[in-house]
Amino acid sequence: MCGIVGYVGSKQAWPILISGLKRLEYRGYDSAGVAVLGPDGLKVRKCKGRVSDLQAHVNGDPMTGTAGIGHTRWATHGEPNDVNAHPHVSGDLALIHNGIIENYAPLKEELISRGYTFSSETDTEVLVHLIADIQRTEGTDLAESVRMALQNVVGAYAIVVVDRKNPGLLVAARKSSPLVIGIGDDGDLFLASDATPIVEHTRNVVYMEDGEIAILDREHGLRVRNTRNQEKRPSIQALEIQLEALEKGGYAHFMLKEIYEQPRSIRDSMRGRLNLAQGNIVLGGIKDYEQRMVNAKRILIVGCGTSWHAGMVGEYLFEEFARIPVEVEYASEFRYRNPVINEDDIVIAISQSGETADTLAAIELAKGRGATIIGICNVVGSSIARQTHAGSYTHAGPEIGVASTKAFTAQVTLLTLMALMVGQRKGTIDGARFQQLLQELDAIPAKVEKVLKTEAQVKYIADIYRDARNALYLGRGYSFPVALEGALKLKEISYIHAEGYPAAEMKHGPIALIDEEMPVFVIATHGASYEKVVSNIQEVKARKGKVIAIVTEGDTTVKGIADHVIEVPATSDALVPLLAVVPLQLLSYHVAVMRGCNVDQPRNLAKSVTVE
Ligand code: F6R
Repeated sequence: MCGIVGYVGSKQAWPILISGLKRLEYRGYDSAGVAVLGPDGLKVRKCKGRVSDLQAHVNGDPMTGTAGIGHTRWATHGEPNDVNAHPHVSGDLALIHNGIIENYAPLKEELISRGYTFSSETDTEVLVHLIADIQRTEGTDLAESVRMALQNVVGAYAIVVVDRKNPGLLVAARKSSPLVIGIGDDGDLFLASDATPIVEHTRNVVYMEDGEIAILDREHGLRVRNTRNQEKRPSIQALEIQLEALEKGGYAHFMLKEIYEQPRSIRDSMRGRLNLAQGNIVLGGIKDYEQRMVNAKRILIVGCGTSWHAGMVGEYLFEEFARIPVEVEYASEFRYRNPVINEDDIVIAISQSGETADTLAAIELAKGRGATIIGICNVVGSSIARQTHAGSYTHAGPEIGVASTKAFTAQVTLLTLMALMVGQRKGTIDGARFQQLLQELDAIPAKVEKVLKTEAQVKYIADIYRDARNALYLGRGYSFPVALEGALKLKEISYIHAEGYPAAEMKHGPIALIDEEMPVFVIATHGASYEKVVSNIQEVKARKGKVIAIVTEGDTTVKGIADHVIEVPATSDALVPLLAVVPLQLLSYHVAVMRGCNVDQPRNLAKSVTVE
């Protein structure tokens, strides 16, 4: 969702804000704006388009000043245009916002009746008028006016406000939307939606908590007020992200770089956890909850999008190895369904960003009903990581491309480790099989390296099907979630309609779509349902569909019937998702590039979905 950045200190704010916005652009990129406080008072510039468009927009008009705020938008209320772009202004105040103000309509009516006029269609503009109104009528300072205004607000927000009358000050507040504050060595203060714009300036950060208000003051430093409006000592943490991880490192796109990082990110997610010498798995982050997992009568897995697909692989893993029934839920449905949750349920919440609003709300609901919540998150210190009872980080490193790739394989790696560990403790997996799977899991990074070598062939196939209007993805068992994920990758970055289906389910409907135009991607690796999948391929071919199959190295049967095959090394069924998804990621990437799509910032999407 929208990206927020702020700075107050001794340096010029504009370059800091612009480079911060560029780092945050993956969160939203339909319009951008800044407000700078300097010798010319409060200067606001904003426009439709990307951060580079904003730079062009202010070209030749110096934005001088040592405090300011910047915003890159993902539209909720009102189309992307110059007027709806943030910051929004009321008198001396300028404000940026990430989130949704649910009761903006009655607030707007009230403000209009009090003489305020609105220029945008956004929900955000009510906030800035509301704060200005309180400041004017109550005579309160900026921080207190923000606090009082937010008492009238229903919704989710991270906001930052500046005041022309007080040019050394930023006031920020958060509820269900992240904000991180950076503290520079020379007293400079930074603020952003996540740590990515801060890391090049300082490694000392403070993660704001829900309900808190932060005052970033050039003179007096950082002050934080908690929900009871009491000053609290900010808890400073050290950032561990490396700056290089935020750069493309010679790749044309972040997505391609991240696909290629998978051997390393899978290895990092297993490091210190999969212990081949001792023949065991140790997950330090959930150690205290291990016995609860072993005793669980049921596991619920919640997530959205790609994380939900990883959760589906988790379902197969936990059922096979730990013999625990699993339900995988879309967080957005789960939270509004009045689901049955028992105190001895384990809820596994999966999220790359750790900020997804629906997943956070599902966690809150399950927590409130007494369940134990285990997180699988990629972003250290994220809201979900902090809301769960325990969890394991995926260690995939920052994922910047909007389409999730390395986060998926890292999530599946973690779920595999968890399921095998619980299975071993419960005795539901045979010792020799457990050891064999540990060996196989350890070999996965090298096998992913090998799969990446198919890129030229995948690109050749992408060129053949780049103009397809529809595509079908089929898989069975562990490969069914991979089919869903393959279809999601294609549709989100190349805008080709694609569906994932369990291969056998095809004959119950989607088979009607198959003709000589329709590419059908089938995961047909050796394993439990191999023969059945071969029959499904025959059914497609009998209707003249084009089959592109992912097969196990050396396969001859499918090679004889499919139009194209892409080979992956042999592995156990349970580990196939970690290999089979890689050529599908590469295929989507190349199709999107060939179609001229913006791979890293696909239309309408944003990374980190902090609105419901
Ligand atoms: C797909 C994608 C999204 C996310 C979903 C959940 O490529 O990126 O579907 O997987 O928005 O996001 P997280 O994992 O951050 O909770």
